[in-house]
Amino acid sequence: MEVVICPDSGVAAVLAADAIDRLLRGNPQAVLGLATGSSPLGVYDELARRTQDGTLSLSRARAFLLDEYVGLPSGHEQSYRSVIHRDLVSRVDLDPAHVLGPDGNATDLARECAAYEEAIAAAGGVDLQLLGVGTDGHLAFNEPGSSLASRTRIKTLTMQTRQDNARFFGGDPDAVPRHCLTQGIGTILEARHLVLIASGQDKAEAVRQLAEGPVSASWPATALQLHRHVTVLVDPEAASGLDRRDQYVETYEAKPAWQGL
Ligand code: GLP
Repeated sequence: MEVVICPDSGVAAVLAADAIDRLLRGNPQAVLGLATGSSPLGVYDELARRTQDGTLSLSRARAFLLDEYVGLPSGHEQSYRSVIHRDLVSRVDLDPAHVLGPDGNATDLARECAAYEEAIAAAGGVDLQLLGVGTDGHLAFNEPGSSLASRTRIKTLTMQTRQDNARFFGGDPDAVPRHCLTQGIGTILEARHLVLIASGQDKAEAVRQLAEGPVSASWPATALQLHRHVTVLVDPEAASGLDRRDQYVETYEAKPAWQGL
């Protein structure tokens, strides 16, 4: 795991966009894993800027969402399909038909989850997965206690997550759906490069656990320690709980330029 302590979240966003840029230059048909939430917004702004100035194209890329609420009416502004369209797809040249997410309104949710896994596999797997982390250490919607081998399935959101996400539902945790479909930890760990972005003091404990804590289902993001290529981009506040800060800074400063993230 590489931890990069950035001067601010804007620099983290540029580094993540650079990694996507580099990937797409090598393979314009690369498969991206997209996250919702506030953490990747700066990355999406950067991708939109580069697309608009003509230095980057996502026209042949494909993308998969991490998760989706269950039961929100189709087209609801907070469904993750709508959110990703607003935050990214509508601002770049990504083909909307090539952006897939699990359908939280499917009549057979178990079948939908299995079909989603099959679709990811049929695309050849995810090349680069963007990730945020919940304050309780959840990855996608894999809440504490989630199996570290889990696959795409239905989950019940914790009250902590519903409170965290209430800001998108008029401040009312009861307006946040109780259930979601989410890629499992095992699914996420199959992506070839995981890029996690975290900023702010609220994320400091989750970042400390995921980088330096023992691997445990109690902090699902600690499963990232089992992956061979993880980049964690944090601002100083999110990094404030880390014991090995000096080591991360020295290592990044000494990194060969050719290596990329
Ligand atoms: C949400 C999403 C996650 C996201 C996390 C953190 O509930 N399902 O994919 O990473 O919580 O969100 P944010 O980036 O807004 O802090």
